Amino acid sequence: MKVLVTGGAGFIGSHTCVELLENGHEVIIFDNFYNSSPDVIERIEKITGKSVKLVEGDMCDAETVDKLFKDNEFECIIHFAGLKAVGESVAKPVFYYDTNIGGTLNIIKAMQKYDVKKLVFSSSATVYGMNNVAPYNETMPTSATNPYGWTKLMIEQILTDTAKAQGDWHIALLRYFNPIGAHSSGLIGEKPNGIPNNLMPYITQVAAGKLECLNVFGDDYDTHDGTGVRDYIHVCDLAIGHMKALNHIDEIDGARQFNLGTGVGYSVLDIVKAFEKANDITINYKIAPRRPGDIATCFADTKRAYDELGFKTERSLEDMCQSSWNFVKNLYK
Ligand code: UD1
Repeated sequence: MKVLVTGGAGFIGSHTCVELLENGHEVIIFDNFYNSSPDVIERIEKITGKSVKLVEGDMCDAETVDKLFKDNEFECIIHFAGLKAVGESVAKPVFYYDTNIGGTLNIIKAMQKYDVKKLVFSSSATVYGMNNVAPYNETMPTSATNPYGWTKLMIEQILTDTAKAQGDWHIALLRYFNPIGAHSSGLIGEKPNGIPNNLMPYITQVAAGKLECLNVFGDDYDTHDGTGVRDYIHVCDLAIGHMKALNHIDEIDGARQFNLGTGVGYSVLDIVKAFEKANDITINYKIAPRRPGDIATCFADTKRAYDELGFKTERSLEDMCQSSWNFVKNLYK
């Protein structure tokens, strides 16, 4: 299939491109490198031994998006491009709504104009909000607590409405839990950009000596050790999830949500201990106050993705910890 991957140079996008190329698909990456770098393209090519077409541009520019679709006959779009920092979205909501929603509308309009009917969208478990009880399943009510989360939810809604109106579109809305890990080559992974917000990038920065100490946000949650529990999924398993969605896309009528997680929750301290053991490194940490907006426990009900897409994760927490560190360690050699 000829697949457009928006945001294909990013963390999840790059791993998905590797998976697509290894499965014989033709990949065109559309990226403005706002939060990634062009050398990722060469790295994807090095891993796969295949070439990737790159179109550098911004999805917020309607003319650029139109030309992209005009010049290529895409069969399917995998849409990763977007801003993703929760804190920044609270400080700059208009920037987030403009970029994530405006950009996606440009993609949708081009799909309509050039008759592309298949799309896989990068959504998030953040749409389950604060009031559901894990395991989360796709029929639960959704809500958001910050502009980033709202953009994910609003885009899900826009895509659902559009698919319904079009009648013959096929859209997979993939709700990711917590992606960590990196490709086994150590060539691609999650690149720290400033001080990380998320747990694993923070831990790897402490391991690298770039940050002194991990703040564990709260140890008084109602969990087995008091620290927050999340469903961490290896980014290479997540990439396979996209492949499975693509393989089954014709069976999806309209838009349908799928959780991509392992179904297993680990606490912050479980992750710290697993990281220390897997890599034989000590991580300095201290207990800090709860982070506003955090919940105690979040993990997936994985049944729908398994039943309908045949998706099941395979990689262990040890692999997630080792590969995360292997990638970051290489950055500082
Ligand atoms: C966060 C976002 C979520 C987004 C996801 C994308 C918030 C509230 N949620 O999810 O909207 O979809 O990232 O990756 O930001 N932790 C620490 N110390 C740290 C960092 C994190 O203790 O320095 C803890 C958190 O309290 C949480 C767990 O580690 O219990 C995971 O945090 P994080 O990696 O930021 O992911 P989420 O909060 O689950």
